[in-house]
Amino acid sequence: MSAFDPVLGQVRAAEKVVFVTGAGISQESGIPTFRGRDGLWRNHDAMKLATIGAFEENPKLVWEWYAERRKNILAALPNPGHAAVAELERYMVVSVLTQNVDGLHQRAGSSEVLELHGSIIRTRCTSCDFIQEIPSGLQGSPPLCRCGCMLRPDVVWFGEELPQDVWKKAVNIASGCDFMIVAGTSLEVSPANMLPVEAKRNGATLVEINPDVTPMSSEMDLTIREKCSVVLPELVSAFS
Ligand code: APR
Repeated sequence: MSAFDPVLGQVRAAEKVVFVTGAGISQESGIPTFRGRDGLWRNHDAMKLATIGAFEENPKLVWEWYAERRKNILAALPNPGHAAVAELERYMVVSVLTQNVDGLHQRAGSSEVLELHGSIIRTRCTSCDFIQEIPSGLQGSPPLCRCGCMLRPDVVWFGEELPQDVWKKAVNIASGCDFMIVAGTSLEVSPANMLPVEAKRNGATLVEINPDVTPMSSEMDLTIREKCSVVLPELVSAFS
C-alpha cells in the first residue's frame, strides 16, 4: 500500500510524468527552505536579499550570502526524494521543472531538468554576456568580470524575468502533460506557480507532496501530506 495508490492507474497511463519542484525537496539534503523559520541569514530576510535592489545596495553582503549557500549546496548530497525522481526514468518519461538553483536533481541523475530560477553554481556578468560555472577559489566579493564589471550569481531575483527560453519550454511541457507531481513548493512565487494551473487547465491529474497546505491544495486530485524522501521512493517501488 502506497500513498500513490489512488492515482497509480493514471501514472501508468501517462505518456510523461512532470515534476514541479521547490525548496522542500532539497530540505532533507540540509538546504534551508526560503519561507518560514528557515528564511533568515545573519538576521537578514532571505526574501529581501534575493533582489536586484539588495545587490545594488550591498553587493558584498548578497555575494557572501550566495557564496555561503553555494558552499553548503556543493557539500550536500541528493536525498532519496531526488534519487526517486531520477529512478522513475527507468519506467517512464520524466521532466523536472524546478525552482531550485542547487543542481541536486541533475546530480541525482535526472536527465531533463529545467532550471526556472537559474543556478547558484554559475555566475554571470552584470554588464556583458559572460557566464560560467564558478571556479573554486574565485576571488572577490563580488569578483569582477574580465570586462571590469561586477559578476553576480546566475539566479533569478524577485522582480526579474525568468529566462524566456526555459520558461516557454516549461509552459509547453506543463500544458501538454497528463500527470503532474508538485513536490516541496509553497506555490507562493509567480510565474512558476502557474505551471500546475496550466496542467490542470489541460486536463492533467495533479498530485501534491507537501507536509503543509498550499494555495493550490484544494485543486489537487491527490494531496500527500508527507516528506518527499518518504513518498517518492514509494512511487518508484510501485513500478519495480
Ligand atoms: N518534503 C516536501 N515538502 C516540504 C518538505 C519536505 N521534506 N520540507 C518542506 N516542504 C515544503 C514546505 O511546507 C513549503 O511549502 O516545501 C515548501 C517550500 O516552500 P518555499 O520555501 O516557499 O520554497 P519554494 O516554493 O521553492 O520557493 C519558490 O521563492 O524565494 C524564492 O526563488 C526562490 O525558488 C524559490 C521560490
